Amino acid sequence: MNKSWMIAGAALLLAGVGGAWGWHAYTHPDLDAPAPVPMDVLDKEGKLLGHHLPPSADEIAGLPNAEQVMLGRRLLNETARLLPDNVGNGLNCNSCHMANGREPLRNHYLNTGGNYPRYMPRPGKEIDLTERINGCFMRSMNGKKLPVDSPEMQGMLAYMHWLGDGMPKGSKVAGRTEGPIDTSLVPDPVRGEQIYARSARPATATTAKA
Ligand code: HEC
Repeated sequence: MNKSWMIAGAALLLAGVGGAWGWHAYTHPDLDAPAPVPMDVLDKEGKLLGHHLPPSADEIAGLPNAEQVMLGRRLLNETARLLPDNVGNGLNCNSCHMANGREPLRNHYLNTGGNYPRYMPRPGKEIDLTERINGCFMRSMNGKKLPVDSPEMQGMLAYMHWLGDGMPKGSKVAGRTEGPIDTSLVPDPVRGEQIYARSARPATATTAKA
């Protein structure tokens, strides 16, 4: 074969591989939240203990309890669809705990696994993490509790523990769960109605039922 044919062949092969890769990325977009940044880890007095890089979903497959963590992650993402008997308002946990609970100012779960049981003022007693999760099922999802030893509850616990894996007990990442509230804003039901009408999604099977 002459040299120019070989070069043309190699170029075609490269274009083919490149094209297939591009097509794969197009048809299989990465739905994971953006890559996290290392966060300061502080003890109870606010002393810097080190840094924590929230783990990426790519790492789940290598865990000894990979299936449990993956189940928890899916349930937090698709709560209304996968647990219709427990969700009364069509929401997912990720509707309020965004980006899979891994980012500051988005109601993250990075400090959650290592900080329960803890005292909560509303019930006036110490509660464990299953009670806290069920609190969100009851109040935030207008739904029903999950049985404590169900695979679904255990999966959610496993996911939250994995997010804070390696952080010392009782320590916290410095990132806040939510931003400050602008108290100068005056509630306005007319504007609220307009914004709701603009952004509300059409009712799904789950929301229609609720
Ligand atoms: C309508 C919004 C909303 C939904 C939906 C929601 N939550 Fe929450 N959740 C909150 C708010 C607000 C807090 C309190 C945040 C705080 O105290 O800083 C919270 C707190 C929590 C906490 C305590 C975190 C901590 O570190 O102490 C956990 C755990 C939790 N939610 C789990 C869930 C799970 C699991 C679901 C889905 C079954 C869910 N939430 C659905 C709004 C929501």
